[in-house]
Amino acid sequence: MSDAKKPWGGRFEHTPSRFLDEFGASLPVDKRMWAEDITGSIAHARMLARQGVISEADADAIEEGLSEIYREIRDGHFDFDVADEDIHMAIERALTERIGPAGGRLHTARSRNDQVALDTRMYAKRMARELAEALAAVRATLASLAESHADVVMPGYTHLQKAQPVLFAHHMLAYFWMLARDATRVRHAYEAADIMPLGSAALAGTTFPVDRRFVADRLGFAEVTANSLDSVSDRDFLLDLTYACTVTMVHLSRLCEELIMWSSEEFGFVTMDDAYSTGSSIMPQKKNPDFAELTRGKTGRVVGDLVGLLTVLKGLPLAYNKDMQEDKEGAFDAIDTTLDCLTVVEGMLATMRVNAERMLAGAHGGFMAATDLADHLVGAGMPFREAHEVIGKLVLSCEREGRTLQDLSAEEFAAVHPALGPDVTGVVDVRAVVERRVSEGGTGPASVAAQLDGARDELAASSAWLAGLGG
Ligand code: ARG
Repeated sequence: MSDAKKPWGGRFEHTPSRFLDEFGASLPVDKRMWAEDITGSIAHARMLARQGVISEADADAIEEGLSEIYREIRDGHFDFDVADEDIHMAIERALTERIGPAGGRLHTARSRNDQVALDTRMYAKRMARELAEALAAVRATLASLAESHADVVMPGYTHLQKAQPVLFAHHMLAYFWMLARDATRVRHAYEAADIMPLGSAALAGTTFPVDRRFVADRLGFAEVTANSLDSVSDRDFLLDLTYACTVTMVHLSRLCEELIMWSSEEFGFVTMDDAYSTGSSIMPQKKNPDFAELTRGKTGRVVGDLVGLLTVLKGLPLAYNKDMQEDKEGAFDAIDTTLDCLTVVEGMLATMRVNAERMLAGAHGGFMAATDLADHLVGAGMPFREAHEVIGKLVLSCEREGRTLQDLSAEEFAAVHPALGPDVTGVVDVRAVVERRVSEGGTGPASVAAQLDGARDELAASSAWLAGLGG
């Protein structure tokens, strides 16, 4: 590697060792931005010709050469040379080998500092779109689960102790809204990336009469950056995208944790499809929810990627510093991991069996109608605190006798308090407890149906945004 001629060779008397060359290289990581690099370079060359900085003939030769390289990389025929430091040098070198001196004109009015900022922004936009699509797919599956299991009642928990019964649909839609906010964060990251930095050159702008807006229009950017120093130093857009990935992973991890618990024998609320389970090499009976566990586990990696990127940027003076080459590996890992996990979770949700009877049985325990009984006493004029006390005592005595609220007879209720009349068995009915939660956003069936409509609207808005991106 150290034998290769450096593009800055003029000023140097000798070159770094092979080890240092490899230490300084980023090609293995940034070569995945090859398409962005080529598309960006073609736009730059066309702009240079239009502005009379290079000839149209040179721009044609550059465009042809780059298009050929594009096809070769796409079809897997391009030979990446380990001697190339990064994707920008690899492509420029291949171009110059093919078209001669015209290739050497491509880098006029440009630095790798604004070039890498451009490529990374284009790549971030492409990935934000893929993330938005994958997030929408999981939301669609959550909404379908809610729709197809509209009547299923399950225990709701606080502190992982049974609290009040809820609809399974309500529980699924809770995750829908988390992922909808993740989609908003991804969209914000897209917009943050959608500003065109080329023309900032190394740090101070360029002496050539560049037309930055032409390049921005051609590459589909909404705007051009306002400050050349900021343009080559800013990686906020990558932080935004990595943060969006991190929160998405935290949400997926929570969902996976519930699926793992729910598929245990103790809960039995869901049964994972065999395709999303693995066995044990020693225990023949085992069926493990590995993929949910891995998603939960990979969340740690993505959190690490975010912290890593924040730490790389912290304390960097303006403008470009080589530290910034360390921005991509973690961000790419966060994006890849999140995309994979969204695919895994979507498939897991779409194929799992929902065990409605087990959920309903679970909703009978835990004295989950206690709040409703207290509310009933309030309806009869008792202050809530006193009602809380009365029902608390009732729960205690049931607990001592090993009975549930649904086991008590009308006479037994009446003996607790006269306001607990014959209609009280209807009060403790689990389904009735759910149906009474009619507040907007509550778990009552009518509220959940309205919520599902809102979810469908949200999904439609999300696809409209994606469709508006074109291409
Ligand atoms: N590979 C570099 C990166 O990813 C490209 C920019 C290099 N610029 C420089 N002045 N060395 O950051």
